[in-house]
Amino acid sequence: MDTRPIGIFDSGLGGLTAVRALVRAAPQESFVYLGDTKNAPYGDRTKEQIQALSRQNVRFLQSRDVKALLVACNTSTANAMDVMRSQAGDLPVVGVIEPAAAAAVSVTETGRIGVLATAATVASGAYEAAVGRLAPAAAVRAVACPGLVPLVESGRTDAEDPELAEAVKTYCAPLLAAGVDTVVLGCTHYPIIRPAIRRALGPDIALIDSGAASVGALLKELEERDALGDERAAGRRQFVCTGGAERFARLGSAFLGWDIRPATEQASL
Ligand code: DGL
Repeated sequence: MDTRPIGIFDSGLGGLTAVRALVRAAPQESFVYLGDTKNAPYGDRTKEQIQALSRQNVRFLQSRDVKALLVACNTSTANAMDVMRSQAGDLPVVGVIEPAAAAAVSVTETGRIGVLATAATVASGAYEAAVGRLAPAAAVRAVACPGLVPLVESGRTDAEDPELAEAVKTYCAPLLAAGVDTVVLGCTHYPIIRPAIRRALGPDIALIDSGAASVGALLKELEERDALGDERAAGRRQFVCTGGAERFARLGSAFLGWDIRPATEQASL
């Protein structure tokens, strides 16, 4: 047993989709969530910038004595896994892309898989590589969606929002044209706008939540190391952001359905 917290990070609110899944699956686990809102979005940055920010996030979470790291950010997973692993040393580091690719491969019937992700994730080719390792015959169509994270971070998440609906429709059109039967929400922000994406793709396409998929892999890793928390206790939940805490806590509370304001602090890394 290990009752230390899990360190989780994203560029902003997106990783809360992994937090929601973690709290449902393992409420006994304590965690420190870091949203690097001052530097969001990551998806339009260079690989070097993403690596530097990711390393900084890992260093910060190491200073909080975490027992494992969940990289709840596809952009960091795709572009900085090696540098994060070398920074983390013995600490286990779990990313979102392998678990999401595995979930997509297990769900697809036609082998045609779509991916919605940031520009930096799409440019990395990480989803094509991960799916290719598991199902070499599968075809992946990945679409960069640079407009979505800024909308989510500003609280524009309602499926009725005309700008959001138009952007989502545009990004989903190539996936519909490719005839995919499964779409990976390859940015952890996107499950927050799932109703808008569902509306654009219709009812029949399976949607894979990359943040939620990663939680299963994280818990398996902890179990193998005999490092799960105490099942009789309730986990401690802390939130840290690098930009304005009021907005982060307000939007985060709305998404999670509980008040995270008393547990949220602002820090400079
Ligand atoms: N939520 C992140 C991801 O999964 C980062 C999005 C961004 O900051 O551009 O890629």
